[in-house]
Amino acid sequence: NRTLSDVLGRRELVMVSNRLPVDRVTAPDGSVSWRTSPGGLVTAVEPIVKELGCLWVGWAGIADAEIEPFSLESMQLAPVTLSADEIEEYYEGFSNGTLWPLYHDVIAQPEYHREWWETYRAVNRRFAERVAESAGEGAIVWVHDYQLQLVPEMIREMRPDLTIAFFLHIPFPPGSLFAQLPWRKPIVRGMLGADVVGFQRVQDAVNFRMAAERYLGAPALGNALRAADGRQVLAQEFPISIDAAAFEELGRLPRVRQRAREIRDELGDPETVMLGVDRLDYTKGIRHRLKAFEEMLADGDVSARDAVLVQVASPSRERVGAYQQLRDDVEVTVGRINGSYGAIGATPVVYLHQGYGREEMAALYLAADVLLVTPLRDGMNLVAKEYIAVRSDERGVLVLSEFAGAADELRDALLVNPHDIEGLKSTILRAVHMPAAEQERRMRALRSVITHYDVARWAEQFLGAVGTAAELRDAATEG
Ligand code: G6P
Repeated sequence: NRTLSDVLGRRELVMVSNRLPVDRVTAPDGSVSWRTSPGGLVTAVEPIVKELGCLWVGWAGIADAEIEPFSLESMQLAPVTLSADEIEEYYEGFSNGTLWPLYHDVIAQPEYHREWWETYRAVNRRFAERVAESAGEGAIVWVHDYQLQLVPEMIREMRPDLTIAFFLHIPFPPGSLFAQLPWRKPIVRGMLGADVVGFQRVQDAVNFRMAAERYLGAPALGNALRAADGRQVLAQEFPISIDAAAFEELGRLPRVRQRAREIRDELGDPETVMLGVDRLDYTKGIRHRLKAFEEMLADGDVSARDAVLVQVASPSRERVGAYQQLRDDVEVTVGRINGSYGAIGATPVVYLHQGYGREEMAALYLAADVLLVTPLRDGMNLVAKEYIAVRSDERGVLVLSEFAGAADELRDALLVNPHDIEGLKSTILRAVHMPAAEQERRMRALRSVITHYDVARWAEQFLGAVGTAAELRDAATEG
């Protein structure tokens, strides 16, 4: 088995993402600490950076903080400063008020503001400059996600010696939606500045190649595109994964198993524990899930005495309007369901607007008979993969939306269309009543997918393609 360092050879690697793996938090007494930051990107990228001990450039999650580079375990972290205005216009604005809803099938309405775009450009330039001054001669720079789509082209202008890789963690939208973006051309040009552009699903890569042809006239040659300067750019799917062994190990810890039993106990020892784990985001289909559950209670398909839905909804992007609206909707709905169908000692929905550490999450996964992953659109969804990795007991049922990237690989889950409430209800019921033998058969098949293709394999394949691109460039310069 090749290790990641074998793949890289002597080349240095620099990671770049909007967020660092930790956020700086200041307690009311003024003391400062670091907390794991939210989201799938960090779950996947952190184990790679830890293994390689490389540099990671990103934002520390607070405004106006000038923080010196520091190391955390084996990681070298280089914070980029963002002002309060930049957070508003680049992060909450263009990244999460324009691109995020546009790239997720316009589930919420994207807003197009020229000032947001200007700030997005300026902040992308700051990230590019930071990389250009930190990366050694001939290094590989790996840029992540929709917040930094202009960075590849900017780095290439500043440092033509670098090999540049870009990975988009969220969907790349179909042409009919991408066409709305007033800045579609510079965005595609920015990404084409990379040598390799990676996506979660085949369809995302197809959508991008079509956009590059349409807006830049870049001819596609199989999975590659020819950029204006004649470079070949590989644009292909590399579905992301998790550190499956680490999650499995967590699930085997006696204290985690004990905690799982405690959780079931504290929930009143119901027959069925259902679980949802999401950032509180409108793409995740939480409203659809609650609607299905409410109707099941109303129809008498399940009762508050024998079924509990635990919904972990970790706080996210709380200053963006669509997220505030979602929180209100979810909290009203949960209150209505519990008020109508609960009883003293029986609460049908346990709603937790909090983030939890990995051990508590592993215990929740072990405690859950059914995991509900019902996004309306999701790049991959690593929660689904974490659940499978933890369940070495080969029990539990995964209900998975067709609109999550994970559905391309996890064919032995119960696949659903979350817009179809009748279908969602009958699938949840099927999960609740699934015989142990079928649970085992499905879980075993799911586990073989993620143990064979874990995050190390993902990084190895992606960086393998990047390494090949680097060698070709070297050969071209020498020749
Ligand atoms: C998704 C995105 C990441 C992002 C994460 C958390 O996973 O792909 O880029 O970091 O959500 O969102 P936040 O806005 O808190 O960084």
